[in-house]
Amino acid sequence: NIVKAINVVWHDNHLECGEREKSLGQQGCTIWLTGLPSSGKSTISFLLERELIKRGYITYVLDGDNIRHGLNKNLGFSKEDREENVRRVGEVAKLFADAGLIVVASLISPYQMQRNFVRNLHESVGLSFIEVFVDAPPNICECRDPKGLYKKARMGELKGFTGVDDPYEPPVYPEIVVKTAESPPNKCADKIITYLLDNGYLK
Ligand code: PPS
Repeated sequence: NIVKAINVVWHDNHLECGEREKSLGQQGCTIWLTGLPSSGKSTISFLLERELIKRGYITYVLDGDNIRHGLNKNLGFSKEDREENVRRVGEVAKLFADAGLIVVASLISPYQMQRNFVRNLHESVGLSFIEVFVDAPPNICECRDPKGLYKKARMGELKGFTGVDDPYEPPVYPEIVVKTAESPPNKCADKIITYLLDNGYLK
């Protein structure tokens, strides 16, 4: 049930091409971490944020769990609600990236189609979208289980839990894959920093 905005017009900003980037000294982009629950998304995201801030880049983490405490507190975990969750965070990420920030979005975002939608939101206006697959074998994620949610799902106390009785579609062509069962979180964050350096996002 998509409602089209009617009787509204788009206002272009008044900046010259590259003016904001030049003034801020950084290029906005969105780094989107997707993966199973307990795969390590949030840990890597906050390490990455700290490293980027340390290097002088304005960076902000949009973490699924945290956003669900505020902006998305009215959403649950049905397919429709997860899609709306990802859509809203995607729109916020696009605004922040357009404002010149390095956005680190950290959500399960289980559906490839929805991640493609967010990629397209960015790329259609010339913003970079960097998809990072936080890859860990399901049994390892389940062993970690810091919030005890896999356990609850296995006992039938939590229905529709990703990786147990709800789907997760791994990315088809992610820009970066980090394997959290093989490398510690700081090495995974380093891999993302190396990508950003190699591709001209950082100086
Ligand atoms: S999604 O699928 O992208 O909308 O999910 P997200 O906003 O990233 O929220 C994931 C965190 O919510 C907790 N949680 C659940 N996850 C998956 N399925 C169900 N049913 C569920 N219920 C609660 C869980 O702690 C997720 O955190 P992470 O950090 O991914 O483990």
